[in-house]
Amino acid sequence: MDKTFRIAPSILSANFAKLGQEITDVIKSGTDIVHFDVMDNHYVPNLTIGPLVCEAIRPLTDAIIDVHLMVKPVDRIIPDFAKAGANIITFHPEGSEHIDRSLSLVRDSGCKSGLVFNPATPLDYLDHVMDKIDMVLLMSVNPGFGGQKFIPETLNKLKLARKKIDAYYEKTGRQIWLEVDGGVNVNNIAEIAKAGADTFVAGSAIFSAGKDTDPNRYDTVVKSLRTSLASV
Ligand code: DX5
Ligand code: ZN
Repeated sequence: MDKTFRIAPSILSANFAKLGQEITDVIKSGTDIVHFDVMDNHYVPNLTIGPLVCEAIRPLTDAIIDVHLMVKPVDRIIPDFAKAGANIITFHPEGSEHIDRSLSLVRDSGCKSGLVFNPATPLDYLDHVMDKIDMVLLMSVNPGFGGQKFIPETLNKLKLARKKIDAYYEKTGRQIWLEVDGGVNVNNIAEIAKAGADTFVAGSAIFSAGKDTDPNRYDTVVKSLRTSLASV
């Protein structure tokens, strides 16, 4: 089984006035995935970016664009993000009336699909749709804002999710990624990895680093995250 760790900077905490440069610089610092937070001021109390911005950043990088939909309903907007160049599209079960159908819609649009679990949302939603899922995303904060504190109960939930994913791998040989989102930083990333995560969203921890005129400003923090992961 593949034991690769992936780091996914959440561009929610980037400088939006210089978004293109921010993405180029953060990927160059050794990160793997652009985490793209979509909020609708309905499912969550904040409003962010949509398919137009995804389309605009697509030519800047070959990195995976991981679109995290915090919107309700989800179906109308899924094909738009696929057309805009998303590679992975995840959504919250609460955002869809027909979860199985929405997962198929993501796959049929040509993207990898995933479900996102809020801190209090049970993992049961996974049990009958594993075949339609490429990534499980556990929220370690309540969605809506960057810069919140990691909720420690997520560690227990990660262990549970890891068990389900490993059992599925044993049965099918198909690998499902386990991503964690919210409050991840240099001090807790190793513990989070030990609990079973392989993909780590980090917004404020990365984008708060350095002076924005220095193209290498993210190198130190990304290196520290990698060093902590190497200890696992
Ligand atoms: C929260 C978003 C997160 C957020 C993470 O609703 O889904 O991706 O940007 O930011 P940090 O790493 O600052 O908690
Ligand atoms: Zn997110």
